Amino acid sequence: MTTNSQVIYLKNYKPPAFLIDTTDLDIRIGDEYTSVVTRLKIRRNPASSEMSAELVLQGGKGIKLQEVMMDGLILDSSGYELEDSKLCIQQCPETFELTTECLIQPQLNTSLEGLYKSGGMYCTQCEAEGFRNITYYLDRPDALSVFTTRISAPKTSYPVLLANGNPVDSGDLDNGEHFAVWHDPFPKPAYLFAMVAGDLVRQDDEFITASGRKVDLQIFVEAHNSHKCDHALASLKRSMLWDEKTYGREYDLDLFMIVAVDDFNMGAMENKGLNIFNSDCVLADPATSSDAMFERIEGIVAHEYFHNWSGNRVTCRDWFQLSLKEGFTVYRDAQYTADTYSAAVKRIDDVTILRTHQFAEDASPMAHPIRPASYIEINNFYSVTVYEKGAEVVGMMHSLLGDHLFRKGSDLYFDRHDGQAVTTDHFVAAMGDASGIDLSQFKHWYSQAGTPTLTVTDSYDAAAQEYRLTVAQSTPATAECQHKQPFHMPFRMALLDANGTEMPLVVQGNDAITGTTCVLDIKQAQQTFVFQEVKQHPIPSLLRGFSAPVKLDYAYTKAQLLFLASKDQDGFCRWEACQRLLIEATEEAMLHTDGYQITDALVSMLRSSLVDEHLDTAMVAKLIQLPSEAYLAETQTTVDVDLIHAAREAMRMAIASALENELLTCYQRCHDTGPFSQTGGAIGNRALKNTCLSYLNSLGKTQYHNMAQQQYALQANMTDVGAALNSLIAIEGSNLATPLLTDFYQRWHTDTQVVDQWFAMQCGANRSGGLEQVQQLLQHSAFDIRNPNKVRSVVGSFIRSAINFHAADGSGYAFVGDMILKLDAINPMIASGLAKPLGRFKRQTPQRKALMQKQLQRLSEAQLSKDVFEVVNRALDSSND
Ligand code: TRP
Ligand code: ZN
Repeated sequence: MTTNSQVIYLKNYKPPAFLIDTTDLDIRIGDEYTSVVTRLKIRRNPASSEMSAELVLQGGKGIKLQEVMMDGLILDSSGYELEDSKLCIQQCPETFELTTECLIQPQLNTSLEGLYKSGGMYCTQCEAEGFRNITYYLDRPDALSVFTTRISAPKTSYPVLLANGNPVDSGDLDNGEHFAVWHDPFPKPAYLFAMVAGDLVRQDDEFITASGRKVDLQIFVEAHNSHKCDHALASLKRSMLWDEKTYGREYDLDLFMIVAVDDFNMGAMENKGLNIFNSDCVLADPATSSDAMFERIEGIVAHEYFHNWSGNRVTCRDWFQLSLKEGFTVYRDAQYTADTYSAAVKRIDDVTILRTHQFAEDASPMAHPIRPASYIEINNFYSVTVYEKGAEVVGMMHSLLGDHLFRKGSDLYFDRHDGQAVTTDHFVAAMGDASGIDLSQFKHWYSQAGTPTLTVTDSYDAAAQEYRLTVAQSTPATAECQHKQPFHMPFRMALLDANGTEMPLVVQGNDAITGTTCVLDIKQAQQTFVFQEVKQHPIPSLLRGFSAPVKLDYAYTKAQLLFLASKDQDGFCRWEACQRLLIEATEEAMLHTDGYQITDALVSMLRSSLVDEHLDTAMVAKLIQLPSEAYLAETQTTVDVDLIHAAREAMRMAIASALENELLTCYQRCHDTGPFSQTGGAIGNRALKNTCLSYLNSLGKTQYHNMAQQQYALQANMTDVGAALNSLIAIEGSNLATPLLTDFYQRWHTDTQVVDQWFAMQCGANRSGGLEQVQQLLQHSAFDIRNPNKVRSVVGSFIRSAINFHAADGSGYAFVGDMILKLDAINPMIASGLAKPLGRFKRQTPQRKALMQKQLQRLSEAQLSKDVFEVVNRALDSSND
C-alpha cells in the first residue's frame, strides 16, 4: 500500500545496464516457507551507455532475502543494499555469477501475482511484474534469459511438477519429497516464466506440425474436471493448424501444456510452453457450459496459443508496448474465429464490445492511447483500449495493405525480430517496409487517444453522373492531447442502386480502384471523393465491416436505413442499419414515456428477418436484438439510466406485442428436440429461439412463463437452461425464477464454474432491488472474496446492472466503494477493476455525478494500492474538465 506513487514515462526508457544470459532457479516448496535459490549469469550490456552502473534487481514486499553470493563468495551487508524493495550491488565486474537465496510464503499471497496457492496447488502469474515476488530479478520484458527450473515438493500432495520448456530430470528425494527439472531453450523475459505444483490429472493429445514434428499436447486439471478438456484440446489443434496456414507459423517446442486454476486475475496467460488458464476460460462440457462459453474458450485458447509467436518469440521492449503483443494477438484470434465460424457474426460481436466498452473508456478519465505515454501501475492498462482498439489498429493496417502485403509484413516482422524485444514502431516499420506503403501518419493511432467522429456528407449531380462524398474527421481532446492530428484510416464502402445492387466504382484521380467495393484512404481533416459514371442517385453503404474504430455520422433517412437493413450485402452494415433504427426508436420512446407507439415500418423490418427461413439464424438473432442499455448510454449526451431502461423495456414490449405470433412461431421452429448438437446451425437456432423467448416474456403472459419453465425443466443444455432462467429473472416484480434458482443451485453446487454463473445471473439482473440481492449473496457459503471469478460474478455483475449500480440514492456507489476498500487489501488488480466504473461520471446526471465523486473522494482518503490510487486520482483530476 502506498500513496507516494511514481509515474513511469515511456520517454525515459533506457536499455538495461546488465543482461542475464542464464537463470537457474531452485524452488523448494514447503508448508511455511518456500525457498528460492536463483543463480544468474550476468554481464554488462554493451548497448547500455552506463558502463559503470550499479546492478539493481527488483523484489516484491513479501520476499525475505537470506543470502547473496557473487562468483561463489558470500557478500556481507556492505556488499549490497536493500532499499525500497530493490537489491542494489555497486561494485560489479564485466561478467559474474550472482546467487541469491530468498524465502517466500505463496500460501499468503492473495494478490495472485507471483507464486501463489490456488486451492491445493501452487501456480504462478508473472505478467506484468509478478516475477519480482518470487525472487530479486531484472523484472522487465527486454531482459531475455534462458531459464532452467528445479522444483521440489512433497510427492503425495504435489505429484505433478511443471515449468516452461522440456522436462530434463526428475526423481525421488528423502522425506517423501520429489523433484523435477525443466529447461526452456528459448530466451524469454521473466513475465513468461511459469511453474505449477499440484495434484492434477492429465488429458493428452498430439499435433503434427507442417514440417512433420510431433508435438505433445497436455491439459492438466483437478480430477473432477477431467471430462471438461475435450473442447480446449480440439480448439488448440484447430488454432495450431490455422496459424500454420494463415501466418506460416509453427509451434517450436515438442510439448505444449495448459493448466487450469480456479483463482486467476484474468482469462489466461501465455507462459512459454506452459499456458495457465482461469478454469472458467478452458473447462467446458455441454451440460455446464453455454454456447457463448464454448465460443469464448475457443477464442482464448487460440489467443494464448498465438502468443507463442506474437508475444513470446517476438516480445515487448517495455510495458508501454503492450499492444504490440495484445492488439496483434486479439486481431489474430478474431481472424481465427471469423475464418472458423461466421465472419459477420464475429465482427458484430467485436464491434459491439468495442463501441460499448472501449468508446466508454476513451471518453473516461482512464482514456489512453493504445501505446500509453505514462502509467503508475501497468496492471491498469490491460484494457479494452490496448486489447480491442489495438486489434482494430492492426486490422486497419490489414485493410490498407490488403491480404498479400499484410502477410508479407507479418512475415517480415516475425523473421526480422525473432528472439527480440521490440516496439510498436518496429511492427509498423515491418508493415511499411514490406508493402512500400507510407505508414508514418498512421502511427498517430498509437499516440493519440479518443474516438474520432467521421462526418460524411454527399451530393449527386444527375446531369454529370457525379457523386461527391466528403469525409471530415475530428477527435475530442483527451488528457494526454488537446489537439489531435488527423488519422490515416481505411474507409470501406460501396454505392447501391435502387435494387440494392453494388454499382461499379470509378473514382476521379484514383485508377487503382476498380470493382464495386473499395477502401478509401482517409488522411486529411476533410477530403472529398468524386465518383464518376454514377448512373443513378446511389445509397451509400459506408464504413463496411466497421473498417475503422470511429463514430460514423451520416444523415441517413429512415427510408435509407430500412433499405440497407434489407438489401446491404455487407453483413455488418445490414445489422448496423437495423441497430440505428432501433436506437432512433428507443430515443423516441424516451420522449414518450407515457405510451410509445412503434412504427409499422420498424415492425415489418423486424418481421421480414424473423420469418425468413433462409437466413442464418445466428444472424437473425443479431438483427432483431435491441442495443444494450450500456450501448444506448454510449450514444447519449447525458445519460439518464432509468429513462434508458424504461424506454428499452417499452421497446421490448412493443416489439413483442406487435410480433407475438411471429416470435412464437420462430421459437417453435428453432426449438431443437433432437440430440444435442454444436454445429453452427444448432447454435444459431438456440440463439434465435432464446431471443424470441426473452421478447415473449416481456409480455407478462402465463403462457410464456410456462414456456420458459418447461425449457428449464427439459435441462437440455446450459444455453437453454440459462436463457430460460434469465428470461424469468428479468421480469420486474416477479419471483417466478426463485424456485428454479434453488433447484439450479442444488443441481450444480459442487461445480464452482456453474455456481459462478448462478451468482452472475442473479447479480446482473437489471431489475430493481439488486443491492439487497447482492448483499444476501455475499453472505452465501459459496461466495469467496479472495476468488476473482466470484467477485466478478457478484460485484462485477452488479455494476453492469445499471439501474442498481446507479440507484438515485447513491447506495450502489457506496456499496461498490466499500467493496473496493475491502478488496484493495486482498487483491489490488481486482479492486482497481471495480474502481474504473466509478470514474465514469462525466455524462451522468448532476446528482449521480456528485454521488460518484463522493465515493472517489472517500477512497482517495484511504491508504490505497498503486492500482486503485491511479484510477481514483485520474477520475478526481478529471472532475473539473
Ligand atoms: N497476457 C495475458 C493475455 O493473454 C494477460 C494476463 C493474464 C495478465 N493474466 C494476467 C495481465 C495478470 C496482467 C496480470 O491477455
Ligand atoms: Zn494476450
